[in-house]
Amino acid sequence: MEYKLRKAEPGDVSHILRLVKELAKYEEMEDQVTLTEKELLEDGFGDTPFYHCILAEVQGASSTDGPKVVGFAMYYFTYDPWIGKQLYLEDFYVMEQFRGIGIGSEILKQLSDLAMNTRCCGMLFVVAENNESSIKFYKRRGAEDLSQQEGWRLYRLAKDKLLKMSAPAEE
Ligand code: COA
Repeated sequence: MEYKLRKAEPGDVSHILRLVKELAKYEEMEDQVTLTEKELLEDGFGDTPFYHCILAEVQGASSTDGPKVVGFAMYYFTYDPWIGKQLYLEDFYVMEQFRGIGIGSEILKQLSDLAMNTRCCGMLFVVAENNESSIKFYKRRGAEDLSQQEGWRLYRLAKDKLLKMSAPAEE
């Protein structure tokens, strides 16, 4: 099956949100997706994009159908004070019926090209520990488990905690 990769454009936010929700469903956390198309549009396509996406498209089933977006990778750049620029891979997802034909590998290839062209020192990502097929997929490509090797733990301060710290002290 033929597919094409391209950079996401503002008109793609509905596809991005659909795929974000599909991946969240795959991870059994769909109810945690609160993001809207409006936010995706503002955050990804304003003066300072907070994320970028590569989309995978296949031609629709009939000749009158347009192309169908079947996979994506959402990424952005982070900075490591020890080694410098890193690419951070957020969501990475291909619809089930289009898996195993090379789309995921080709997306990783494009991201690797981008990382090399922008002089990144590596690519970071988080994988749920029960997502064994993806862990194998990444490990076959040489990924290392930093939680295991270096003992890092992922923490978050949720918005209510931030509000508490940011609120002006009461008189
Ligand atoms: N489904 C999944 N993988 C299959 C497959 C199938 N039906 N059939 C074969 N494979 C094998 C391929 O041979 C290939 O093996 P390799 O690692 O030795 O190259 C690998 O699985 C998939 O390769 P490819 O076709 O390039 O990737 P993909 O388009 O299937 O995309 C993922 C890879 C991980 C994005 C995709 O499997 C996916 O969306 N998984 C569910 C969501 C997920 O876990 N995302 C990552 C979150 S961190």
